[in-house]
Amino acid sequence: MIAEWRGQPVFIVRRTEEILGNLKKITGDLSDPESKASVQPTYVDPSNRSIKPEILVLVGLCTHLGCSPTFRPEVAPVDLGPKWVGGYFCPCHGSHYDLAGRVYKAQPAPLNLPVPPHSYESDDIIVVGVDQENA
Ligand code: FES
Repeated sequence: MIAEWRGQPVFIVRRTEEILGNLKKITGDLSDPESKASVQPTYVDPSNRSIKPEILVLVGLCTHLGCSPTFRPEVAPVDLGPKWVGGYFCPCHGSHYDLAGRVYKAQPAPLNLPVPPHSYESDDIIVVGVDQENA
């Protein structure tokens, strides 16, 4: 689903075990697989970029010039090629991100999609903008 926070789109994605497994297979193709240079809270796992592995929360603005990337979860579609395992594609200048919001190498976008501060009010309710560190 797409929510809104501070006027920005927030992408919330439920990831399957297959998707989580694919994230580990493509780290060599990514610019910052451990998100060392990218924006995310300290309590988020640096590689799958979430609090709960199955739930991804991202600010949906490309780190190149701020377009909103398109959700492309399918595997190996014709237009994105046989190595594509699902992710986000920015239609403005073609940046590719995986389903953890991590940007591939040699893309216009310099960084992974940001992870906003967020927390779980319950199993079914995510609060974006408020977290356990009171951010
Ligand atoms: S704004 Fe996304 S690639 Fe340029």
